[in-house]
Amino acid sequence: MLLTLEGLDGSGKTSAWEALRAEHPEAVFTREPTDSWYGDAVARSMGDDDADPLAELFLFTADHADHLARVVRPALSEGSLVVTDRYTDSRYAYQAASLSESYLAGGRDPLTYIQEIHEAFTHPPDATIYLDVDPETAAERAGATNKFERATYLERVRENYERLIERDPDRFVRVDAAQPLGDVTASVKAAVSEILANR
Ligand code: TMP
Repeated sequence: MLLTLEGLDGSGKTSAWEALRAEHPEAVFTREPTDSWYGDAVARSMGDDDADPLAELFLFTADHADHLARVVRPALSEGSLVVTDRYTDSRYAYQAASLSESYLAGGRDPLTYIQEIHEAFTHPPDATIYLDVDPETAAERAGATNKFERATYLERVRENYERLIERDPDRFVRVDAAQPLGDVTASVKAAVSEILANR
């Protein structure tokens, strides 16, 4: 089973993932961007204010292809539970917010375009926990240097997550991530227990 954690930066996602790791030592815990050289290339691009958003999309996608081949598919074929901190939905939500519509030919919708690229090769998640938090709290918690600019971007990312949930409501479990971080972790743990009990 492939379980993914998604949400804005500062949603408490990584703390929840760490708490789950302590609770499920038998599972494979992983994350995107990865720590491979593809992940290093992604980090380099994210640190460059002038990075081309389309080039950045393909760096993230290359990192995902490698992550799938090297970690996710082997673990799933051994029958392991795989829990990943970010996965395909991060590209659909974040890179669709970075790519303005005018960037793509023929008025293509960025979110749909990015989904189509992935659908040709990815392994879709069985369940996704979405840590839902408002962009201001997210930017504040993540310690963004320009909080207003970051919150404006995260608002678009959040709208994209909402579109994804609308398209695939049965896959998502929404957790209120505006709660204190300890309560966010407890809610995520409870949601995962329920998903595993019903599988
Ligand atoms: P993190 O908050 O999980 O450490 O993720 C690092 C940043 O990378 C975060 O701002 C979200 C961004 N990101 C994307 O924009 N697209 C992606 O596909 C992934 C995996 C992360």
